[in-house]
Amino acid sequence: AAVVGKRVRSRRKWMRVVGVLKELEEGCGTPVSRLKHVVDAMAVEMHAGLASERGSKLKMLLTFVDKLPTGSEKGIYYALDLGGTNFRVLRVQLGGRRSGIVRHDVERKPIPEHLMTSTSEDLFDFIATSLKAFFDQENVKDSDLSPSSRRELGFTFSFPVNQTTVSSGILMKWTKGFSIHDMVGKDVSESLHQAMSRQGLNMHIAALVNDTVGTLALGHYNDEDTVAAVIIGTGTNACYFERADAIIKSQGFPDSSGGMVVNMEWGNFWSSHLPRTSYDIELDAESPNPNDQGFEKMISGMYLGEIVRRVILRMSKESDVFGPISSSLCKAFILRTPLMSTMHEDESPDLQEVARILDEVLGIHDVPLKVRKLVVNICDVVTRRAARLAAAGIVGILKKIGRDGSGGVAGSRAKGPSSSNRLKRTVVAVEGGLYSNYRMFREYLNDAVAEILGEELAPYVILKVAEDGSGIGAALLAATYSSPENVDT
Ligand code: GLC
Repeated sequence: AAVVGKRVRSRRKWMRVVGVLKELEEGCGTPVSRLKHVVDAMAVEMHAGLASERGSKLKMLLTFVDKLPTGSEKGIYYALDLGGTNFRVLRVQLGGRRSGIVRHDVERKPIPEHLMTSTSEDLFDFIATSLKAFFDQENVKDSDLSPSSRRELGFTFSFPVNQTTVSSGILMKWTKGFSIHDMVGKDVSESLHQAMSRQGLNMHIAALVNDTVGTLALGHYNDEDTVAAVIIGTGTNACYFERADAIIKSQGFPDSSGGMVVNMEWGNFWSSHLPRTSYDIELDAESPNPNDQGFEKMISGMYLGEIVRRVILRMSKESDVFGPISSSLCKAFILRTPLMSTMHEDESPDLQEVARILDEVLGIHDVPLKVRKLVVNICDVVTRRAARLAAAGIVGILKKIGRDGSGGVAGSRAKGPSSSNRLKRTVVAVEGGLYSNYRMFREYLNDAVAEILGEELAPYVILKVAEDGSGIGAALLAATYSSPENVDT
């Protein structure tokens, strides 16, 4: 009788855990009907954000990038890329129409964590010192530089910036765990410039860009049909080229008559159609930026592992299938998304990688195979939702610009399925570790884009990885915006 009683108890516990998984699955559901609502909401919010500064949670920031690199740029250009987990310095050599990108050198450094919450001076001194170290070991003659013989720099700063010109702008707020109070409201290029002067560096900041804008620049350089760029890494965001007459709030900027790139800051997108769970609500409430970046918190690499940790913790509280609750399991952000993807994609017999990560990272020891499978399931649900929501965001942009087969939403010039934009090859450049390194995420996203668009249209929409796009693209934009002599005519 004792044995039977034990079995019944353990079965009950297991059923409780299965119940939590079921609830998660239901809460994270993304049937195509719901995704289509998200697509529509994205397109509508884009309109609202373009109409006025306070029109929407989507900020739709003007970038003043009104031309994209063409392929004729020549010379050596530099880029600084700050905004993800790593900080990068790049040197890009451009050979004009014939040779394109002749070579590019990249140096990566992880950003010391304490700098993410220190002072702007500390952060920018670190950047300028790294830049100086990069120059000190390079062997470049002045004559190899840009035709103007100056060192021209594109600065990729991947946070919401209110641009004042193509090369300057003011930080509006921090995202992705950065929080340096004295920097908000300051001019980003000016801060870099001052730090460079402290290091005795003399460079010209030709462009200040968001990572999405850099990626669009490289995407367009490689393939002229590229209309938008999406980042899916530590954070998530998108930008695209918008017609001047659609940017209602920019009226009064005479220079933008041909249109310009708009940085959507889609991480802050919100809609009642998003499938939100109690895990999302709690994660948001305990984050340094509550009520902010809601879309990003469901999609990007900074958060996916954390959502999974919260689900496992909840299951551990409901039942003891994970054993006693360890102190590691209670630590926010301890389960990083790359580890989550390793568990999700574990192909070893008996899910040994899952067991190892549970053991080493979360302090959960010796769980049976069915519990390991449960963990894989949790990863799957969380990643699938993220990827499918990002897909809906992408189709939302296509809808706004009339490339989704509908000919655009009210207010767009391209109307009706007979529009010339219908069935036009459309490329979206994608960058970011989550998309490039997490195969399951990528497959879910690609499949969902095709599913939403339908069979006829899907073949015309191509997602292309633009590797190192945020950095290389910034160097390309430095060439475009430094001086007219830098371009073959
Ligand atoms: C965050 C930033 C945004 C950036 C994105 C991807 O959402 O606010 O500017 O583009 O992360 O790095």
